[in-house]
Amino acid sequence: MANGPSVTPWDVSGTVNYDKLVKEFGVERIDSAILRQIERAAGELHPFLRRGVFFSHRDMNWVMNEYEKGNKFFLYTGRSPSDAVHIGHLVPWMFTKWIQDRFNVDLWFQFPDEEKFLFKDSLDFKKVGHFLQENMLDVIAIGFDPKRTKFLVDTLHANLMYKPACEVAKRITLSTIKASFGFDDSANIGQAFYTAMQSVPAFLPSYLSGRTIPCLIPHAIDQDPHFRIARDVLPKLGFPKPASIHSVFLPPLSGAAGKMSSSIPTGAIYTTDSAKAVQEKVMKHAFSGGQPTVKEHREKGGNPEVDVPYQWLRFFEEDDDKLKKIHDDYQSGKMLTGEIKQVLVDLLVRLLERHQAARAEAEDKVNDYIFKCQE
Ligand code: TRP
Repeated sequence: MANGPSVTPWDVSGTVNYDKLVKEFGVERIDSAILRQIERAAGELHPFLRRGVFFSHRDMNWVMNEYEKGNKFFLYTGRSPSDAVHIGHLVPWMFTKWIQDRFNVDLWFQFPDEEKFLFKDSLDFKKVGHFLQENMLDVIAIGFDPKRTKFLVDTLHANLMYKPACEVAKRITLSTIKASFGFDDSANIGQAFYTAMQSVPAFLPSYLSGRTIPCLIPHAIDQDPHFRIARDVLPKLGFPKPASIHSVFLPPLSGAAGKMSSSIPTGAIYTTDSAKAVQEKVMKHAFSGGQPTVKEHREKGGNPEVDVPYQWLRFFEEDDDKLKKIHDDYQSGKMLTGEIKQVLVDLLVRLLERHQAARAEAEDKVNDYIFKCQE
């Protein structure tokens, strides 16, 4: 896959050029018209929308139009268990929760526990099972409404999902798969089939109920190739094309390129990290846009555009006025590198304390979230 696209569902490398992705993927930028429509329906705009963290979409206007006519959509997103959850993963989930709360809609959350098994040599089902349990706690800790949220675990719900997956798979050629994901002939056949499984939750509620329910998928932009295929196939099965809304990646601690990855532990903050670990990681490893000496920093100021602490605050500091003051003080040299790092540490520690408390309580709730077919 080395010479394939730089952003695929399994690999994001180098500095991501989002303008280029918008063109390559054929998605639409979120513009002020769609923002106004979302604000009208939701009563407010999430900071991720105001700040361009969610930056592109497919058919979001259709979903909003239908909603305004009284035709509610359902949400669909997911997590492939393979590793511990880090704060980059929380971005689409926090946004999904906001939509669920604001629009009072159902969420189908997929855990494709075969995906990373098929893609990573080092993973067996025992390890995947461990991360499945762990990852479900993180998802529950986000605070999704248990009455409106349904977990689908591919191997657990195989009986339910396999037929619709075959309906999809029958309508996808190998050449489409190769072109969409950059596979060559050494890819295993499970990898080729997998996208059919990821398309199933996008129409399962319609398939089960016999009604046509619009689907909205919030996800990080790297997942788009799956849903581009789903949008081609689903109308052939009598279901609407799923709509989607896409986030940028949270940059890794080490700098503004690529995305946060669990494979580089010093580049990521995990949801289970202690306050001490957060402090150490940010202070030692966060790429700084500051000047080498305090004297120079006071004179020239820092560069918030490349400064990881500032860039992360853009994701997690919800107060626009506070964020602007940090930006201006850092840029002018009034705020030092050590100070902006401490602001980030304090915010992350608070966020993780809340998350970890909710995560500890989630242990007893898993069963309430798992979809029961007879519902
Ligand atoms: N493929 C995703 C991952 O690697 C998991 C996933 C399944 C997903 N269905 C989804 C992500 C829908 C976003 C939206 O984690």
